[in-house]
Parts: sequence; C-alpha cells; structure tokens
Amino acid sequence: METTHKIFFKNSSRMDEMESNSIDLVVTSPPYPMIEMWDSLYSRLNKRIQVALQEGVGFRAFNLMHAELEKVWREVVRVVKPGGIVCINIGDATRKISNSFQLFPNHVRTTTFFQSNGFVVLPSILWRKPTNSPNKFLGSGMLPTNAYVSLEHEYILIFRKGDEKRKLPPAFEDRYHSAYFWEERNKWFSDIWIDLKGISQKMNNRIGKKGNIRERSAAFPLKLPYRLINMFSIYEDTILDPFWGTGTTTFAAMVTGRNSIGFEINSEFLDNFKLDLTDIKSTTQAINTKRVKDHIEFIKNYEKKGKYPNYKSNNYAFSVITKQEIEILLYSIKNFKENGNEFTILYDKFELEPFRS
Ligand SMILES: C[S@@+](CC[C@H](N)C(=O)[O-])C[C@H]1O[C@@H](n2cnc3c(N)ncnc32)[C@H](O)[C@@H]1O
Repeated sequence: METTHKIFFKNSSRMDEMESNSIDLVVTSPPYPMIEMWDSLYSRLNKRIQVALQEGVGFRAFNLMHAELEKVWREVVRVVKPGGIVCINIGDATRKISNSFQLFPNHVRTTTFFQSNGFVVLPSILWRKPTNSPNKFLGSGMLPTNAYVSLEHEYILIFRKGDEKRKLPPAFEDRYHSAYFWEERNKWFSDIWIDLKGISQKMNNRIGKKGNIRERSAAFPLKLPYRLINMFSIYEDTILDPFWGTGTTTFAAMVTGRNSIGFEINSEFLDNFKLDLTDIKSTTQAINTKRVKDHIEFIKNYEKKGKYPNYKSNNYAFSVITKQEIEILLYSIKNFKENGNEFTILYDKFELEPFRS
C-alpha cells in the first residue's frame, strides 16, 4: 500500500486546488474565536475584529471571528463527499471583556453553521481534559452567588454531509481490514473522552524532543486524530485538515494508512514536521505494537472471567470478540519519500513476531 500527503501553505478559505466532493473525512481544530492567543490572527484577517476588541464589544468580535471561520467551513462543505464526515475539535472561550466575564459558545455557532448548510449533526464527543490546577475556580471562592463554573472540556463536533450514509460495497476488503477492536469501539464511541491528555502548549514535537519554534503550538495530541481517523474512515481514504498547524492530522493519516491534504496559513511548522517524520517508522511500530498487546491483554482478562472469545483473527495469532474483527489488518511503514511539501509513504503488513508462536 502507498499513501500521499500534500500540504498547501495558504489560507484555506480558498481551497481551489481541491475538487468538490473529493474528501472522505475532515479532522481539524480551528483557532478558537475569543481565545486571546488568536486575537492577532483574526485581527489580521479582518481589521473590524481588532476594533471590536478594542472597543470591548465582545459579541461583535465573536460574530466577526466566526464569519472568518465560516469562509473555511464553506469550502469544507464543498469538498467533502456526500456521506463524508467532518470532525471539529473546538472549545468555547471564557473571557473578561468590558469588565464582564462571559462564555463565548463556539461549539454552538459551529454546529448551527453545519446544520444550516446541508450537514446532519451527529452526537458529539466531550473531551474532558484532566486538570489539577488548584486555582481553577474563578470568582468569589466559597461565597454564593457569583462564582463561575470552570471550563475543563472541549468538544469534538461530528457532522455528516447529507442524510445518506456513505455507501461502501458490502464485503469491501478495505473496510474489513480497517475494522477496530470491540473493546476499542466501546471506548472510542463513548461521548466523553477522559483518557486523552491535552499536550503541553510548549512546542515539543510529537516524539517528545524539544523544538524551538512557536511557543504555543495549540496542537491536539496524536491520539485524537488517530482515533477519529480509525473511527470514520478506511484505508486509502483522503483526510483533510484545513487548519494544519503542526500537522498532527497528517501524521495520524500516515500512521493509519490514509492519504491526506493540509492547508496552513503559517509555514513555520514544516521543519518540525519533517523532524517528526524521521521517527515515523518507529512511532507507527510502537503504536501498532501497543494496540495489539492491549488487545491480547484484554482477551486474557476476558478469559479470566470465564468468558471466551468467539473468533480467531485471520491475519494474526489472537482471538477477537466479534466476526467483524476477523480481518483486522495493521500496517507498518516501510519507507517514506519527501518532495518539498509532498510526502509518499510505503507500507508493509504489520507483524508482531513474539505473539506468533
Ligand atoms: C488550533 S491550530 C491547529 C493545530 C493542529 N490541530 C495541530 O495539532 O497542530 C489552528 C491553525 O490554523 C491556522 N490557521 C488559522 N486560520 C487559517 C486559515 N484561514 N487558513 C489556513 N490556516 C489557518 C493557524 O495558523 C494555526 O496553525
């Protein structure tokens, strides 16, 4: 198998390079409106945003920021295939503006946009980020009535283009090879994710080496696009991230054997992405190994409870709970080629030797 990955360093409000109805899945996280770190970006896109912020008219600034985002969402509406899925990681913003502390509900605005533009709203995931901060409670301490609830979650909004589900041939091989484990289904399709830590906002690359570029990366953890891609696409599909950032979605698409396209206004992350790529083979091997070891552990515990899995995998020496998991096939990365902003990844079947005996 071979996949290709392209990054366009330009504003995604015009994705002219892309054909309509060509994308299977979007996994992205935009700059959240009314979060201070993005004020300057939004003000560059529209000077009236800067004026609204200076005048302290929060609701106007919020609306204008969403109007900028909607230029990109309109393009997303165009390029996604009928039945294709859009996953948007977005948080609401809390902010004191004109001396009034308030919440700006970004997830509501974004949902309303997609619902008004031919998309079906599916149940979303609440991503609850673990926090230990003792100062998380805002307001007046122990005295009613004016304290504020602390905001410790973000959303993963999920939309489908049109009423009809994607049509795949009934026994389509790629679909069966792309299946996930039963116990993964039970965890991934829960509407609250509590096991995914936000990553440090200090710019590190994905494998933990210190990078030296943007102080605050706003990246999501690799597990987030990794899961969503496994949940909502199959091998060799094409994944789009119109707010590419440090390229986490592309990296996850490479690891999961999907093609990808990214758009990013700011090209300063490309070198760091290329640095990450030098370890993609070992990262992919480690992810697959952990996934299979976790599965084997799960099956052991299942058997300890006196229950027995019904099926044997056709590709690996382990049992699975359901018939749909029999054909699960994982891929290792054999090699990759780089050509400027384009990458080709070559794969081999993933083998886990010690468990073959
Ligand atoms: C929240 S970050 C995305 C982080 C990414 N998910 C990651 O893991 O690194 C949003 C990114 O969108 C970019 N951006 C904002 N507006 C854009 C636009 N109109 N076109 C392309 N990129 C844009 C910003 O430069 C920023 O890197």
